[in-house]
Amino acid sequence: MDSILVRGGGALNGQIPIAGAKNACLALMPATLLSEEPLTLTNAPRLSDIRTMTQLLQSLGAEVAAMQDGKVITMASHGEINTRAEYDIVRKMRASNLVLGPLLAREGHAEVSLPGGCAIGARPMDIHTDGLAKMGAEIDLRDGYLYAKAGAGGKLKGAVIDFPFASVGATENILMAATLAKGTTVINNAAREPEIVDLADCLRAMGAQIEGDGTSSITIQGVDSLHGATHKVVTDRIELGTYMLAPAFCGGEVELLGGRIDLLEAFCEKLDAAGIDVSETDAGLKVARRNGRISAVDVTTEPFPGFPTDLQAQMMALLCTAEGTSVLEEKIFENRFMHAPELIRMGARIDVQGGTAKVTGVEKLKGAPVMATDLRASISLILAGLAATGETTVSRVYHLDRGYEHVVSKLRGVGADIERISDK
Ligand code: EPZ
Repeated sequence: MDSILVRGGGALNGQIPIAGAKNACLALMPATLLSEEPLTLTNAPRLSDIRTMTQLLQSLGAEVAAMQDGKVITMASHGEINTRAEYDIVRKMRASNLVLGPLLAREGHAEVSLPGGCAIGARPMDIHTDGLAKMGAEIDLRDGYLYAKAGAGGKLKGAVIDFPFASVGATENILMAATLAKGTTVINNAAREPEIVDLADCLRAMGAQIEGDGTSSITIQGVDSLHGATHKVVTDRIELGTYMLAPAFCGGEVELLGGRIDLLEAFCEKLDAAGIDVSETDAGLKVARRNGRISAVDVTTEPFPGFPTDLQAQMMALLCTAEGTSVLEEKIFENRFMHAPELIRMGARIDVQGGTAKVTGVEKLKGAPVMATDLRASISLILAGLAATGETTVSRVYHLDRGYEHVVSKLRGVGADIERISDK
């Protein structure tokens, strides 16, 4: 397994290009199952999760071709569709469960393996399945697979669905399923993430009738069929937020190309409170520390438009060297502080009690060998190493490859002393 070696050093200056959003692309790709005509995605990120989704769609009978070094993905599912999403692919990536809604809508039945737990939590699918049941689907769990069948005539029917929690994946599954259902579907307490709006934009381009995406209530008028489309994947707000922290850790000034403030307002408010300046430029966002040491701030993760859980690990790493004590509350996942013990190895002072972590700032972290435990934890350890004294080696970087393209070159491009060590 590869590792990444980081040598703590000086300020970072220059530009970092931000890619298309992993979590948008992983919802957009299954949408190809909703039409027999080609769906093309541009500005797609080059990530292992995208390759996993490609394998899954190909196993279902879709044709998927990546062009321009993976930035363009053209898909078509006009042949015979296999409706069984196998465990050995689904267990690698939870987002595989986003084929459930489209398969049900297109074929009237589906067998999708439950993804199983992952490092950050149990991640059940009850909100997905309860919503589809409201649309007339019969869903049984057998040998680890969800066996789903649409109701009368093999078609889902429109329904009013009240979510107990604003689940991103459940919103995406129901949104896609409802585009071809008979009648009108309303999703209340829907997720409001920009990735939901991006999916709705793409589905509308395919002929779907959707209103209210981006708000807590989405209305979908089912249509008989959808046609092909070409859609540009929205900017990755989590990659954006991650790299906005690089100059916050190390000093200097970095411009994030393609960055948009509207994708991360709650996050930017916290950066401002911590003493980090964010300004809009013609090319994106420019970020710099206002003066020396940053200030402690309290953070609570919430569904959009609140502070994103996917930036909690990175913010915790930053606050390890803040002046004062910060309290971070993780309200979305039950086990998303696994980066804390690794940061403590670097000299951080963190007290974790259940879903709350109290971080007492120290002057400097010290480089150390640390282990990535999940995607967002891995990048937070790299950022911490950039600002620490000495060398930090982050192992198990396959987690990183799932969600961050070309990390070494992007950070080297602003002056970081970082290299990837292959253990082959
Ligand atoms: C999406 O996961 C993202 N993944 C996650 O990003 C992100 O952290 C999460 O949304 C929250 O923003 C993708 O988009 C591919 P949820 P998802 O359904 O859809 C519980 C990353 O690092 N829940 O909003 O799985 C669940 O257990 C990843 O890029 C149920 O209880 O998130 C969790 O505690 C990590 N029942 C909470 O809701 C359900 O049926 C949020 O889950 C569904 C979810």
